[in-house]
Amino acid sequence: MDVIRLRKASDKDKAVAVGFYNSIEQEEEVSLYREEKIAKAILEETCYIILAGHRAIGFVIFDYRFFDQGWIELMILDEACRGKGIGGKVFDLLGEQCRAEKLFTSTNRSNTRMQKALAKAGFSFAGQLTGLDEGDPELFYYRLRLLDKRVLMDGRD
Ligand SMILES: CC(C)(COP(=O)(O)OP(=O)(O)OC[C@H]1O[C@@H](n2cnc3c(N)ncnc32)[C@H](O)[C@@H]1OP(=O)(O)O)[C@@H](O)C(=O)NCCC(=O)NCCS
Repeated sequence: MDVIRLRKASDKDKAVAVGFYNSIEQEEEVSLYREEKIAKAILEETCYIILAGHRAIGFVIFDYRFFDQGWIELMILDEACRGKGIGGKVFDLLGEQCRAEKLFTSTNRSNTRMQKALAKAGFSFAGQLTGLDEGDPELFYYRLRLLDKRVLMDGRD
């Protein structure tokens, strides 16, 4: 498998990132919001292109807006690259560059793939928030920025 890396996104990457974003289910009215969200993250230097070798395969928005802890706002991989453990690699890369002690993120209860990816990467459940998406609570997760892989392996056995 190609080496997975992160590169800070620039204006030139906007269309590519929006393309990945629009690959997940959407309603017509949210697509404009998506463009604005990516543009803002690029401007604030919190958007990273996920590279496999030299090929863009997704993007992640990462900042410190959540109680000054590392916060993964959004990660989207190209459909063909999902389910191959790449998400876990990106969590590790973010952990390496994180200036805070912990990484936090959240996902809808309906997003079982993200939950599996988080559990595999050593994240713990932190709690849930209702009232955002009707009938689909937001589940919060966290982990230390760097993991002792031996502990993770032991935990799995
Ligand atoms: C969520 C996402 C970032 C996870 O990254 P990933 O590299 O695909 O994660 P992994 O390869 O570690 O796979 C996660 C697990 O989900 C499982 N899985 C694969 N397809 C699945 C599906 N359709 N439904 C549920 N689980 C699925 C995989 O088997 C894997 O579990 P396993 O290794 O125990 O078998 C990526 O799938 C993605 O971009 N999804 C679309 C966008 C999204 O939902 N982003 C998160 C928003 S909060």
